[in-house]
Amino acid sequence: MSEQLTAETVSQALASSLALVQKADNFQDLKAIKASAVGEESPLSKLNALIKSLPNDQKAEAGRLVGAARAELNAAFATKESELQAVADSEALELERVDITAYPRVAPKGARHPLSLLMDSISDVFIGMGWEIADGPELENEWFNFDALNFHPDHPARAMQDTFFVAPVDNHLLLRTHTSPVQVRSLLERELPLYVLCPGRVFRTDELDATHTPVFHQVEGLAVDKGLTMSDLKGTLEHFARVMFGPEAKIRLRPSFFPFTEPSAELDVWHPGAKGGARWVEWGGCGMVNPNVLLAAGIDPEVYTGFAFGMGIERTLMFRNGVRDMHDMVEADARFSQQFGSVI
Ligand code: PHE
Repeated sequence: MSEQLTAETVSQALASSLALVQKADNFQDLKAIKASAVGEESPLSKLNALIKSLPNDQKAEAGRLVGAARAELNAAFATKESELQAVADSEALELERVDITAYPRVAPKGARHPLSLLMDSISDVFIGMGWEIADGPELENEWFNFDALNFHPDHPARAMQDTFFVAPVDNHLLLRTHTSPVQVRSLLERELPLYVLCPGRVFRTDELDATHTPVFHQVEGLAVDKGLTMSDLKGTLEHFARVMFGPEAKIRLRPSFFPFTEPSAELDVWHPGAKGGARWVEWGGCGMVNPNVLLAAGIDPEVYTGFAFGMGIERTLMFRNGVRDMHDMVEADARFSQQFGSVI
């Protein structure tokens, strides 16, 4: 049955097209709807096509009907279009909104690691006393790390379980297990008298846990001069302790053994600001340079004597600044470092 052109069919065609227009919620939909609602295949166009087959006296009225419907539909498109435009505009404005009260986002600058800061401030203490800073390689020859330091060939510290040897083992290269090889290098390279401090990185085959790390730092001190005695060692360490831990800090030495010092001692520090109250804390090792070490460097132990000490930087940072977990020190999270500021 072919479609009749009547007021009713025109208003039905208009209504169905208007309903489509109303449903559009974006420009793309609206464009597609426009094609089907005003294109040649659209209901109104089909009705329009019937006009020419009407009796002449009805054509004008039918033309007016369809024209009015088309005008209304076009108006509906225009309204819808401006509605969608308004939504799009306000969305864009929201998206591009600038909050002029917002705090500026400052690019994070990172921070120096507290271990570096601590090594610097330890160095400053000794530079202040006229000492020099010495440096040595991290990939070290076994002779400097052990032999020249009077370690017996069978000393357990040389064992593979403690020391990272570098293949091929016949090359006798290792990652230095302490900063003491710098003692020997300094003795060979520098003039006497000698007052040097060596902060540096050292390596041992420890598993990483709350209190151990296979890569850590030590600071080594070495003084060789005529007439140095154990009291020079004690005085130096006492001054060092007071600068690090406050004027009430004091030190005590407990007899111990290191192959490269004789006599040797464990160094404890009385830490007045310790968490949970003042107490003695194990801090490092020290002693008078073993004559065999001086001899290995071609120095006459009858003329010169020396003292040496060494301590862990991580350990010092832990009990001095209340760092409880070694992981914090190795994870390189800038938020950890930032807590310490630029001076510690
Ligand atoms: N090198 C020793 C260690 O790593 C510390 C030490 C240094 C002891 C100097 C005495 C003298 O444990």
